[in-house]
Amino acid sequence: MDMLQFRSLAEKIFDDIREMSFDGVGVTRESYGRGESAAGDYLRELAQSEGLDVQPDRAANLVFSPPGMEPDAPAVWVGSHIDSVPQGGNFDGLAGVVAGLLCLVARQREGAQGGTPLQVVAFRGEESAWFGKAYMGSSALLGKLSEADLELKQRATGETLAQYMEKAGADVAAISQQQPLVDTRRIKAYLELHIEQGPVMVARELPVAVVSGIRGNIRHNRIECIGDAQHSGVVPRWLRHDAMFAVADLIMRLDEHWRVLLERGTDLVVTAGIVNTDPAEHSISRIPGRVSFSLEARSKSTDTLEAFYQLVRAECAAISRERGVCFEFDRRLLSDPATMDERICKLLSDACAGQNVPFEVIPSGAGHDASLFANAGVPSGMLFVRNQNGSHNPHEAMDIDDFMLGVQVLGDTLDKLR
Ligand code: GLV
Ligand code: MN
Ligand code: MN
Repeated sequence: MDMLQFRSLAEKIFDDIREMSFDGVGVTRESYGRGESAAGDYLRELAQSEGLDVQPDRAANLVFSPPGMEPDAPAVWVGSHIDSVPQGGNFDGLAGVVAGLLCLVARQREGAQGGTPLQVVAFRGEESAWFGKAYMGSSALLGKLSEADLELKQRATGETLAQYMEKAGADVAAISQQQPLVDTRRIKAYLELHIEQGPVMVARELPVAVVSGIRGNIRHNRIECIGDAQHSGVVPRWLRHDAMFAVADLIMRLDEHWRVLLERGTDLVVTAGIVNTDPAEHSISRIPGRVSFSLEARSKSTDTLEAFYQLVRAECAAISRERGVCFEFDRRLLSDPATMDERICKLLSDACAGQNVPFEVIPSGAGHDASLFANAGVPSGMLFVRNQNGSHNPHEAMDIDDFMLGVQVLGDTLDKLR
């Protein structure tokens, strides 16, 4: 089916949702919060006006289905997320949900009957920015959210994930049992279209790309370095226990390990995205006694993540001895890397080739709900659409022509999976 007919509808959906979640700088759609719910309500109304059925699942994600579909019938799923990071871009997550919905609307308008039905899922809570944990909506659905995860606190309000999920209508008691809330055997395939979020496709002039696999990550939301807070003028260097210098030392050592590992061909990225001294006590004239920071390492290989993590702990121990400080760690979080299904990659590649556009098969540096499905044994595949200015920032941009090309490739692939 020719998906180009949906170009203006796609533009309208992106514009409308951007407007309702604009925060003055970028878009903010809080996980299980206002912006995410508003986007979900908008998409529900739109889908219902097209005659589609829309129901929340037990984890409060939104499921779009053809009308009259048997609830437990085998189906092909297309999904992505409708939350965003604070002051983020409009397309991270939303593009995939809109793409799936357009394919479903196309089938509905066509009056197509028969074959394996298509269902689209708009996941809540994919972004780790809000509770310090990623993939909450898909994890909850697949029985992968633990009691400890449910106790994680929202960054601004301090209310727990369980409280937020409950308010959004999720069955938290069932989720905490850690049993899948869906029979994954009935999901014949899981597909996700997503913007690339990085600079590679722009640089290589690729409008679309097929994803081979997704990096996993190892994280601490908060590590605290504890030194000794003293008058900045009176303590000589050899008697100081400066938590800030200790953290800086740690980051530089990790950077050096990272550089050496890269030279050996290891896949790795490392980030300390949050670094704080306490504003209630810090001052220009006080040696920092406490510095807290987040730490994240991502890799395609679980072994690399583990090995790098051991280096982190070893360097913390060495710096503690050398500088007279100590490090305290909160709960370690691990998200597994994932490999996309070969057959689905081939179908996506064939569909790209069918459009006569250049494309490549590339790995995903960012995390996606698709990794949860792949690791749950559901054959999964992802299609990237080129985007400008990166992601997790308010400047994220996407050419609508690239998006429509991605929707066409997705639609053609879904036709093969009918
Ligand atoms: C998803 O947004 C991620 O942080 O990879
Ligand atoms: Mn994101
Ligand atoms: Mn995303």
